[in-house]
Amino acid sequence: MNQSVLNGLRADTPGVSNCIHLNNAGAGLMPLPVIDAVKEHIDLEAKIGGYEAANREEQRCDQVYDSVAKLIGAKPREIALCENATFAWQMAFYGLDLNAGDRILTARAEYAANYVAFLQRAAKIGCQIEIIPDQPDGSTDPDALERMLDERVKLIAITQIPTNGGLINPAEQIGKIANRHGITYLLDACQAVGQMPVDVEQLGCDFLSAAGRKFLRGPRGTGFLYVREKWLDILEPPIIDHFGAEWVSQDKYQLRPDARRYESWENSYALRLGLGAAVDYSLAVGLENISARAFGLAAALREELSGMPGVTPRDLGSEKCAIVTFTHEKLQASSIKQIMANEGINISASVPSSTRLDAERRNLPVVLRVSPHYYNTEDEIERFCQVLKHVA
Ligand SMILES: Cc1ncc(COP(=O)(O)O)c(C=O)c1O
Repeated sequence: MNQSVLNGLRADTPGVSNCIHLNNAGAGLMPLPVIDAVKEHIDLEAKIGGYEAANREEQRCDQVYDSVAKLIGAKPREIALCENATFAWQMAFYGLDLNAGDRILTARAEYAANYVAFLQRAAKIGCQIEIIPDQPDGSTDPDALERMLDERVKLIAITQIPTNGGLINPAEQIGKIANRHGITYLLDACQAVGQMPVDVEQLGCDFLSAAGRKFLRGPRGTGFLYVREKWLDILEPPIIDHFGAEWVSQDKYQLRPDARRYESWENSYALRLGLGAAVDYSLAVGLENISARAFGLAAALREELSGMPGVTPRDLGSEKCAIVTFTHEKLQASSIKQIMANEGINISASVPSSTRLDAERRNLPVVLRVSPHYYNTEDEIERFCQVLKHVA
């Protein structure tokens, strides 16, 4: 990405003039087309009425499905828009037919929201949750997974990029194994979408969930679910309303033919248009360009951190993404986060309970999480490192 392209992307991002934003794994800074899409629709609602605004913008609202589908190599009818990644994931998970004795295989760094849902279903129906062992680099081990398989394994559900570090799990290899053995594969791609190319055909997943606000740079309160077409003939969503299913006669409903059966009737059209604009923006920048630059900035940061006294890098994996985690021997994460905030630098912290299995196995305290994106600069990384060097 050359300097003039970068300058243009930063000029599109009002937030960069107020802060050094290194919390894209929390929520990315929205670019102008996203901000405008949301505001313009709110203005239109105020001017002509909410239902009327949705009618007028119907075509643009429909195009959001095309955009999301294009982003992940899916068909528009395989996309449901949701208010967050967790709800998208839950709609897939709770809709699966799991029974007593069934085995769910998951990864060590599975996200808390998903894991508590496993626990709830295990308690309710008597299915089992098992952890796929790691490879020496900390990523999920596909060979170990294959050795665990038997006819009782009904679901493989993993997170591609965990919330608590730079790890990229071998989601594609896992998909190949799942497909070879005919096992349902649910992928949490919440932190992957928008920071690297994600293609559902290559991944071989049956379901994929993602958020709009993180590396996609969409508005908060947006997300989506991908449902492989074949499941639309097999599964019902765990909950439905009269949008997902028409009430066709007094004792009968009929599900919509597409993945929008996982949606409900009322939603924010303004935020959806913002999500669509965010996806289009990412596609225009190019996901290969995005990952090359974001991963590069993160690698430069890791390099600096590795030589810094008192700092322990905490990222797992051989190939690492744009999430950088570390701890400091003298100061707690909350103190460093506050010091950075005082300097206008946004970073975040990841608590052990968000990825409890991984955190407890590695004996992790709260870790600091620094997540640059393609619109950040080398100077911003340098500034962060300078402040960190002087904290203790
Ligand atoms: C790996 C992972 N999965 C799921 C989620 C949940 O996303 P949301 O807050 O949009 O429900 C997060 C949020 O941080 C996450 O990091």
